[in-house]
Amino acid sequence: MVTVPGISLEGQVAVVTGARRGIGKDTALVLAAAGADVVVSDLVTEKGELDAVVAEIKAMGRKALGFKTDVRDRTQVDEMVKKTAEAFGRIDILVNNAGIGLPEGPHEPEKFEARQKEMQEHMAEWTSAKSWVSRFNEENFEKILNTNLRSIMVCTRAVSDVMIKNNRGAIVNVSSIQSFDRGGSAGSPYSISKRGINMLTESLAVDLARHNIRVNAIAPGGIVTEMMRDFTERPQMRQMLESRMLLGGKLISPEPCGHLVLFLVSDLSKYVTGQIICVDAGLNLARG
Ligand SMILES: NC(=O)c1ccc[n+]([C@@H]2O[C@H](COP(=O)([O-])OP(=O)(O)OC[C@H]3O[C@@H](n4cnc5c(N)ncnc54)[C@H](O)[C@@H]3O)[C@@H](O)[C@H]2O)c1
Repeated sequence: MVTVPGISLEGQVAVVTGARRGIGKDTALVLAAAGADVVVSDLVTEKGELDAVVAEIKAMGRKALGFKTDVRDRTQVDEMVKKTAEAFGRIDILVNNAGIGLPEGPHEPEKFEARQKEMQEHMAEWTSAKSWVSRFNEENFEKILNTNLRSIMVCTRAVSDVMIKNNRGAIVNVSSIQSFDRGGSAGSPYSISKRGINMLTESLAVDLARHNIRVNAIAPGGIVTEMMRDFTERPQMRQMLESRMLLGGKLISPEPCGHLVLFLVSDLSKYVTGQIICVDAGLNLARG
């Protein structure tokens, strides 16, 4: 006789970074729908999107808090974790989702035209005879690595202090199919940051297992969000991407990322740790 563990997160508290929109928002909503109380944070709160996510979670009958938190800043992250622990007395789940693709990110809709122009110039330079090493921009490199990779250490260190006290926890890092890039685009700081996340996920999984804390990563690809708009609004690029989406032939919404996160924080994956799982309709395999 087998049993199927429940997927309910009732009584659990989740923290999701970069949650005003996109993958972070849908993940926060999925965790709330599964019964968790959810703390959402983002660098950008002025537009009211984060407040709207908080309201949506509360409308589901869950507790919710929203924080303006820059994940690069240890003081701000510590403050968010302290206030969460004071309000709820526990943190069971951490989703390290905040990230940027270009150094001037977060990618705001109103900057789209300017970004397109910049991207064309960038592409012209990219295909020039110069090697990427000679085009190395220290400031851009640092900004992307700080936001996407170093931030995961900053947030995990702060939250794991609380999880360790309770001897339980599940952490999910948001990597990317670009973490599996080889050679050609290996010079991209984004790919490097995401490959680093995979390595960090494995290291943290080993380190935190003694405290009954699991650490896994999802590797999304082809998800329609503001970050992907630079690609998805260029018909040729969208067509190329969709021709490689093996399941369904279309780019996908952020919600399935939330579903994979839910699996990875629920008891269904009780013995899964240190894994990096793609949610990309097969795009990573198809791009070879
Ligand atoms: N969309 C895709 O296809 C795709 C593919 C692979 C990985 N990802 C990853 O998914 C995650 C979410 O991206 P998305 O696609 O939803 O894009 P998005 O731009 O809609 O969401 C990213 C969020 O992170 C926030 N953020 C950026 N810098 C921050 C900082 N310093 N502190 C706190 N918050 C910050 C942004 O304000 C934004 O709300 C990112 O880590 C991204 O790299 C996305």
